[in-house]
Amino acid sequence: MNRSPTRSPIPLRLAFSLALIPLFSSVSLYAASVAQSSPDGKIKFTLTDDKGVPTYSVSYQGQEVIQPSRLGLEFKAVDGFVRDLKIADSATTSSDSTWEQPWGEQRLMRDHHNELLVTLTGIDNTKKTMQVRVRLFDDGLGFRYEVPEQKKLAPRKDNKIEIIDEKTEFIIPAPDKTIAWWIPGRAWNRYEFLYNTTPLKAMDRAHTPMTFKLPSGVHVSIHEAALTDYAAMVLDQQRDGVLKADLTPWSDGVKVKTQLGFKSSWRTIQIADNAAGLINSSLILNLNEPNKLGDVSWVKPGKYIGIWWGMHVGTNTWGSGEKHGATTANTKHYMDFAAQNGFDGVLVEGWNEGWDGDWYNNGDIFSFTKPYKDFDIAEITRYGLNKGVRLIGHHETSGAVTNYKNQMDDAFDLYKKYGVTQVKTGYVADGGKAKRIDENGIARNEWHDGQFMIGEYLRSVTEAAERHISINTHEPIKDTGLRRTYPNWIAREGARGQEYNAWGSPPNPPEHTVMLPFTRMLAGPMDYTPGIFNLAPYGLDAENRVQSTLAKELALYVIIYSPIQMAADLIENYYEQDGKTLKPAFQFIRDVPTDWEVSKAIGGEVGDYAIIARQQRNSEDWFVGAITDEAARKVNIPLNFLKAGKRYEAQIYRDGDKAEWKTNPYDLVIEKKVVTASDNLKFKLGTSGGVAIRFKALP
Ligand code: NOJ
Ligand code: CA
Repeated sequence: MNRSPTRSPIPLRLAFSLALIPLFSSVSLYAASVAQSSPDGKIKFTLTDDKGVPTYSVSYQGQEVIQPSRLGLEFKAVDGFVRDLKIADSATTSSDSTWEQPWGEQRLMRDHHNELLVTLTGIDNTKKTMQVRVRLFDDGLGFRYEVPEQKKLAPRKDNKIEIIDEKTEFIIPAPDKTIAWWIPGRAWNRYEFLYNTTPLKAMDRAHTPMTFKLPSGVHVSIHEAALTDYAAMVLDQQRDGVLKADLTPWSDGVKVKTQLGFKSSWRTIQIADNAAGLINSSLILNLNEPNKLGDVSWVKPGKYIGIWWGMHVGTNTWGSGEKHGATTANTKHYMDFAAQNGFDGVLVEGWNEGWDGDWYNNGDIFSFTKPYKDFDIAEITRYGLNKGVRLIGHHETSGAVTNYKNQMDDAFDLYKKYGVTQVKTGYVADGGKAKRIDENGIARNEWHDGQFMIGEYLRSVTEAAERHISINTHEPIKDTGLRRTYPNWIAREGARGQEYNAWGSPPNPPEHTVMLPFTRMLAGPMDYTPGIFNLAPYGLDAENRVQSTLAKELALYVIIYSPIQMAADLIENYYEQDGKTLKPAFQFIRDVPTDWEVSKAIGGEVGDYAIIARQQRNSEDWFVGAITDEAARKVNIPLNFLKAGKRYEAQIYRDGDKAEWKTNPYDLVIEKKVVTASDNLKFKLGTSGGVAIRFKALP
């Protein structure tokens, strides 16, 4: 439906048509305003053109969540959309549909939204046009810029245009009383920082998702959706509470190199009454384009083990030599274990030439087609396929992306030839130091979240898709829901993962995994790699160890969603002392699935605790994980998510009464109980403890 914007003051609105506005010297008196609400009416988005500057605000149940904040785009060499603008038109539509995820934390996704499309032009009647498209859902909203092809703005025949600044602001009320959870943006360690908990006003420049809690208790998270061919948005706090979109630049300072007819990524604002509500939001996926790859039945969720942790704790090396992990014999040994325990993949790192020496700084010498002599890829993949186990490929680039690009075709062809269907990629390099060789042969340093790298990540995903290979990106661009459009982008890292417990200083503290569900995980699946059983490989008192109980390591399989989950430890650590009997706790890892029909966050507070229930896909079984931070905690889990009237065997893996992470992390009790939907289960979690439960439907 088309409707004219409301202009105030009202009497003048009747007297003058919009077209007359430019005749007046000042437009402020005649500011126009348009608004749209979420389907349930609780969220309201308003946009005005007061003083010629497009300005929006957002309220939730009548309470301001975003105060009047400006919008705009600034271009190089041509006049963009910064000032002297007016609302020329607006239209609203509504939509309610359901779509299905090929794999995911939830099979059916409801996309119920109201849309507002606002057309802005210059107040001087210059014919330049930009649109702001806004979609409001019950769990939040997104808006994006759309700049159509137009003569007025085309300085060149090819329609090329450069964005040098995005003016979007998010002005948050009560910045001294609002609590923010954030990691620094545009910093050396990419997204691999511990989360800060501060009053909002103490935040400087932060990555998204950036989550905060208003004094009323309403929880909000700002992020973006469908980030392709644009620059990532970092939030830069200018005045207290004024968060400005700070687009990550190219090495030459330009933010986005594009052409007219472009759309920005969506700027998203998720809003919920409580912390768990944020986890239950599907906003980010709903704002992404549907699957572009067609039949993706070749993309397979699953569980894997790997020749991996040994390199992190120093028992193996990536490079060649006596401690080389990626040998034919070792890989076969891992494949045997995988086949016996229902894992479908074995990741092998350090299989290819280039790891010897300072690989962090020498990405240019990586070969993606030449295995080390002691890694017989033909024999290994033949052996694995006989047992139903695939080799999971690995491409560490050390951020030398031109070297990778030059070999990409051959690299994926090689893996395809050997039946590899999943590749983990890596872009280890300091932030701002990804290495690009430009058209003149000159090396340039780019940010991992700049437009150039965003294109490189996507190239690896689409090139892999052509060979029916799925990609798990480490040191990635943040997730913005692109798995909907490219379902072979199966997981990524993009936060501090398990590896930090082996060598990080400090390792991940107890609260880290109760931060992730409410922050990083709002973006999408994470390859955290849980399941370390030897929690303290250098001793309980060593700084580097897993700072949790064993039960918490199990619960992470439910809490930290990923369609591919690793059992990350050395396989010998899954056996009792005798080297033959599997530890009883390992049964949970064997049983837990990685593909879900329904997921529900039941409770939690950011940085304190989280409780999540998920129903296995194509099954009546449910799984629950609950984890806590450094505080021991009692949790009460109402089982009303179970099917009413049905009986289930609850297979419980909980902290023992004396469990606590520092000195007694292995105190684990495994017990079984018959339960129904009307039961409540109560647990006492030890410090940095947890509980993992399988609810097996009884006939
Ligand atoms: C960093 C990744 O996160 C880790 O999993 C991998 O082992 C190393 N890079 C080497 O590629
Ligand atoms: Ca990493």
